[in-house]
Amino acid sequence: MSSPLALITGAASGIGLAAARRMAGEGWRLLLCDIDAAGLERAAAELGAEAVPLDISDVPAVREAAARLLERHGSVEAVVVCAGISGHGLPFEKVDEAAFDAMLGTHLKGHFFLLQAFAPAMAAAGGGAMVLVSSLFALRGSPNMPHYTAAKGALLGLGRALAVELGPRNIRVNVVAPGLIRTPMTEKSAGYDKDFFTRRETVIPLRRLATPEDVAASIAFLASPAAASLTGQCLSPSGGEAFT
Ligand SMILES: NC(=O)c1ccc[n+]([C@@H]2O[C@H](COP(=O)([O-])OP(=O)(O)OC[C@H]3O[C@@H](n4cnc5c(N)ncnc54)[C@H](O)[C@@H]3O)[C@@H](O)[C@H]2O)c1
Repeated sequence: MSSPLALITGAASGIGLAAARRMAGEGWRLLLCDIDAAGLERAAAELGAEAVPLDISDVPAVREAAARLLERHGSVEAVVVCAGISGHGLPFEKVDEAAFDAMLGTHLKGHFFLLQAFAPAMAAAGGGAMVLVSSLFALRGSPNMPHYTAAKGALLGLGRALAVELGPRNIRVNVVAPGLIRTPMTEKSAGYDKDFFTRRETVIPLRRLATPEDVAASIAFLASPAAASLTGQCLSPSGGEAFT
């Protein structure tokens, strides 16, 4: 039997790259998708994976890429949606329509239509797993990133809706809601000063930030047969930050 196949968006960096490394180590074949063509090539070469350069916010391009991949591969056993952009440092009054559209287009709309494109083939193949990377901020508020928080909350809602709708076709849909993770996204975020990460650690119950590898472990678990009875769940790798 051939290894299962997974598509991961946002796979060129941070959490998506860590998930790709983890899943490759667990025997998955991978289709890696990202807007960063150079980073994607590096990741694909490292992991012996197929690179799928794509702007996830471009819905016609998403549909075209999905059709091409489905024609070539028939179906995939898992789709992990992880591509994202930072919204930190923008107060409510400063979020203009362009910023709102970019945020919702990347995190929600593109992924919505990507999952829609893969669901019929997955169902026809007997089922599969979808893992949606949301955020701790889908579970609780945070200032100066309302459009990001709205997008991540919508992803959590989408995950729960799809779990119920697609469950009878044996497609499991789960959400991962990480706390603050040190990645290229947060390292370069305008909203965080240089001591931000160490200050956060002092209020996290486990007294350390979760890592991209911690998040990857949750993603890989939810995609795996070990999570066969889990759907509609939300795991928050955050060292307990959700409860502070
Ligand atoms: N880092 C954190 O603290 C944190 C916390 C909670 C949730 N998340 C979420 O985890 C996911 C990964 O974030 P990260 O911290 O690893 O950031 P990252 O910047 O390291 O990785 C994000 C990846 O998404 C890609 N991407 C951005 N826009 C894209 C587009 N339009 N089309 C395709 N790819 C695109 C980027 O090129 C990059 O490779 C994001 O969805 C983010 O919102 C991150």
